Amino acid sequence: MSVGRGGPIVTVDGPAGSGKSTTAREAARRLGFRHLDSGALYRALTLALLDSGTPPDAWPRLTREEIDALNVAVAPTPSGFDVRVAGRVPGPELRGDAVTAQVSQLSRLPAVRAALLGLQRSAGREGRLVADGRDMGTVVFPDAEVKVFLVADITERARRRLLERGVARPSDEQLRDEAAAIELRDRRDSTRSESPLRRPEGALVVDTTHLTVEEQVEVVVREVRRSGRS
Ligand code: DC
Repeated sequence: MSVGRGGPIVTVDGPAGSGKSTTAREAARRLGFRHLDSGALYRALTLALLDSGTPPDAWPRLTREEIDALNVAVAPTPSGFDVRVAGRVPGPELRGDAVTAQVSQLSRLPAVRAALLGLQRSAGREGRLVADGRDMGTVVFPDAEVKVFLVADITERARRRLLERGVARPSDEQLRDEAAAIELRDRRDSTRSESPLRRPEGALVVDTTHLTVEEQVEVVVREVRRSGRS
């Protein structure tokens, strides 16, 4: 798969709050590669469906044509890819509660995964890519030159997600609620039959519980350099 490509593909997979997107984005910047946040594609489809008023219990019956008609696309930018819905880059609602609550339900559907597979692979056509998600190293880019799997303690993951939403000093109750929500999403993402979240064979496993973002980025960049692929 690397033959004819302009450079390597690096995959960063892991559960919610493990630090994937932040790490992958910054590692890509340092390496001079593009970054692909595949979760944003699943979120964009979820947003498009919610906006269209299609009720979630009808989503399992969506056909490939109906999914394609939602017009979710990726457009290359100097540092990565813009995810667009009907030509528009979505705002903060992409990461809002409504989308977060429904995205796992959508992402387990085979027709959805099939529709997004081509988009993700097209983003990797020229190589020099750091792609993060749940199945980057297992399904989307199984021949990636470097694979990383991030894990972290559940309470730490909850703390990071709350911090992202501006809650710097969460109460024990907030932490407990957030951890429960993450666990539910993890369970859905790792027990689904299509492309479940799992460690890719040969991936470097990194526990980020006690690492700073800087240290996580350093691990990925070092692994790429060590592999002699940058
Ligand atoms: O990384 P995130 O929280 O933005 O991802 C949103 C959801 O999308 C997540 O619950 C699982 C799904 N997802 C997926 O199934 N496969 C991917 N490669 C990326 C995300």
